[in-house]
Amino acid sequence: MNNYSFINNVPDHLQLQDEVTTSLWPEFMMHDPVANKYWPSLFEFFPEFQISLVIDNEIVGIANSIPFHWDRAVNDLPEEGWDWVLKTGVENYKKDIKPNALNGLQISVKKDFQGKGFSSIIVNELIRISRINNFSFLAIPVRPSLKSKYPLTSIDEYITWQRGDGLPFDPWLRVHVKNGGKIIKPCHKAMYIPGTIKEWEEWTGLKFFQSGKYIVKGALNPILINKDMNLGEYIEPNVWIIHEIEH
Ligand SMILES: CC(C)(COP(=O)(O)OP(=O)(O)OC[C@H]1O[C@@H](n2cnc3c(N)ncnc32)[C@H](O)[C@@H]1OP(=O)(O)O)[C@@H](O)C(=O)NCCC(=O)NCCS
Repeated sequence: MNNYSFINNVPDHLQLQDEVTTSLWPEFMMHDPVANKYWPSLFEFFPEFQISLVIDNEIVGIANSIPFHWDRAVNDLPEEGWDWVLKTGVENYKKDIKPNALNGLQISVKKDFQGKGFSSIIVNELIRISRINNFSFLAIPVRPSLKSKYPLTSIDEYITWQRGDGLPFDPWLRVHVKNGGKIIKPCHKAMYIPGTIKEWEEWTGLKFFQSGKYIVKGALNPILINKDMNLGEYIEPNVWIIHEIEH
């Protein structure tokens, strides 16, 4: 493994990370209203929890995380996963509510550096950060990386798919399980992305002549088009994974 280090709280970190993100995510994922409203708060209120993995002065992977408070069972974590936890973390901060857990919002590795094990290094760094902050667990509403190839399969069925060795079929779920994570349950409404028909046509490069369900590249479920309401909706399912922190 190359020599690597992590940086955080550096000038223009949001923009530097955006350069990694925009090359990896489908366009429609850039239009989640909750993300667009709260993302800059991550760098304003929680700069030390936004980290980048650097090799030879190049950012090769990134992670965004947010502390939050949760005093119920992890099985009760909400269906609205990702959107909920970003909003909750920012609101907890503004109300001075002491966090007891960390939530991973994104881990991304640049295309040329994928498949080399860097994601495990980043996951373990988030676990370390959780430990030094005395948090009891690291939660992640995980976006399974191959689910978009199976948009007609429910997330509930998809997460039961296993390889011969008993590990999850999905490579990104597998990374978490290999690093001690536990699959808790799906969060079916992790992200909600609404847009007009014109916006969805711009985001996807498709034409929507009639109402119905459409398979869109990069989406984990079909998107719903309603011509009468001039509305396209995408509801992204994720999977709650918990890494318990040993102290
Ligand atoms: C998901 C992601 C973070 C994984 O990072 P990574 O550093 O490439 O992962 P690793 O090198 O640790 O590989 C993990 C497993 O995935 C497999 N893998 C890697 N790229 C793959 C691909 N394109 N297709 C299928 N499997 C792949 C590896 O072989 C490995 O499998 P193993 O368990 O059998 O060893 C990275 O692919 C990525 O940034 N994707 C785009 C953004 C994203 O989806 N982020 C996650 C949601 S926030």
